[in-house]
Amino acid sequence: MPGHFTFDSSTTVRAEGGAQGAAKLLRTLLAPATGLPLPTSTTGTVVIVLDPYLRGLGTEGYGLTIAPNAVLLRAARPAGLLNGVQTIRQLLPAEALSPRPVAGVPWRMPCGQITDVPRYRWRGAMLDVARHFQPVSFLRRFTDLLALHKMNTLHLHLTDDQGWRMPVSAYPRLTEVGGVRSRTLLGPADSDQYDDTPHAGAYTAGQLRGLVAYAAERGVTVVPEIEMPGHARAALAAYPELGNVPGRQLDVWTRWGVCENVLGVHDGVLEFCRTVLGEVMDVFPSPYVHIGGDECPATEWESSPVALRRTAELGLAAPKALHGWFLGRIGAFLLAAGRRPLCWAEDSGALPPDFTVMPWRDTEHGLAAARRGHDVVMAPYRSTYLDYPQSDDPGEPLGQQGVVDLPAAHRGGAPTGWEPESAARVLGTQGQLWSEFIRTPEEIEYLAFPRLAALADRAWNPASEWSTDFLPALRVHETRLTALGVAHRATPPRRGVPVPGTTPH
Ligand code: ACM
Repeated sequence: MPGHFTFDSSTTVRAEGGAQGAAKLLRTLLAPATGLPLPTSTTGTVVIVLDPYLRGLGTEGYGLTIAPNAVLLRAARPAGLLNGVQTIRQLLPAEALSPRPVAGVPWRMPCGQITDVPRYRWRGAMLDVARHFQPVSFLRRFTDLLALHKMNTLHLHLTDDQGWRMPVSAYPRLTEVGGVRSRTLLGPADSDQYDDTPHAGAYTAGQLRGLVAYAAERGVTVVPEIEMPGHARAALAAYPELGNVPGRQLDVWTRWGVCENVLGVHDGVLEFCRTVLGEVMDVFPSPYVHIGGDECPATEWESSPVALRRTAELGLAAPKALHGWFLGRIGAFLLAAGRRPLCWAEDSGALPPDFTVMPWRDTEHGLAAARRGHDVVMAPYRSTYLDYPQSDDPGEPLGQQGVVDLPAAHRGGAPTGWEPESAARVLGTQGQLWSEFIRTPEEIEYLAFPRLAALADRAWNPASEWSTDFLPALRVHETRLTALGVAHRATPPRRGVPVPGTTPH
């Protein structure tokens, strides 16, 4: 269809059948750069329709028709309309994304017809705010960036050995004591240099509720993660009685890696976890609640009389089997509360099948979990850990050892060659931003983009090919990120690889 539709001061919006949320989002997103009021009118030229009888669009798909004098956006569910609003933004000149008023740009979209449905229902990013706290203003900005890329899940890693950021009214010391680390390691994980500056931060319940509402208006679900039974040293610093050694006072951990200090297995600990998760569920309506579950050494349980007694009472072969028992108990609590337990999986053998798992080591762990009957969100580190450097250039910021380059991120951890029953268990994929080595919002943006754009592209459209689909569009992605003021990594031209954006296609 030739021609353009132009947004100008005469453009009005008609929202039908409960499409008001999408109309409001369109207005909110276009206002800063364009200054256009886009008022509601029964004769609007931009028509947004929620029609539950529309077939073939699922929960998140949409249809968009752009003609010279009218735009029609339709979906069966509100989330589909919100995705369509992001497409309208993407079809406009990149300046439409500017946070400041832009003069002299015609706000034109090419005419055409789009029907667009995502392959995966979980298109996520995990942000570790435990190792380095981030202000809620940045969480909102990051949510906006996810929504622009039609990602629908922000997974917040709220607690770890090095910091507890989730407010819990029943246990105030979790944030008062567990939210403060006396110092932070400088350099690689085996360094012995510290900055000698306390690192502190915690959210209020009001801030988190506000974030949840803000994200929901953009089609993004915030999934909370509370780590247990390992990666819990900040909680042990706040409440030593949760541990395995009576009378021991630990500090909030100042090193990186796997910590031997883990939660105990006495009834008081299970009660603590249930109380914490009760408050978490009160703040986060997400159907899924993540309970960590990774990297839990059994060393302390092996020498704890309480844990040994528990092992024997339960008839378990060894204390390390307490890990599956612990997660199973907490998972049952979440299920009884109407939520779905989610955890990192190294080896999901001991988990009940109603756990959804995030295999983070290798893709094969994902296949094994799917074959055992788990729903799976793929998170293999070789392609989804965005805290790894993007190249082996010594100028890249300090990160984990290894490289996750842009083509790897575009593979996005999506499985290939699995039998259909296992492939059907894959809910989607997710990029990870662990923050041992990431301190600031600018560093997060540099590591996240454009790799999250690549991962999001594949998560939405499995047929997207790196060289013929994503790479030619990369310059456009980068132009948008620049317009938004995102501190993204600029992709340098490489030998043997066509310069994105100049490739004929
Ligand atoms: C993890 O990387 N320990 C989930």
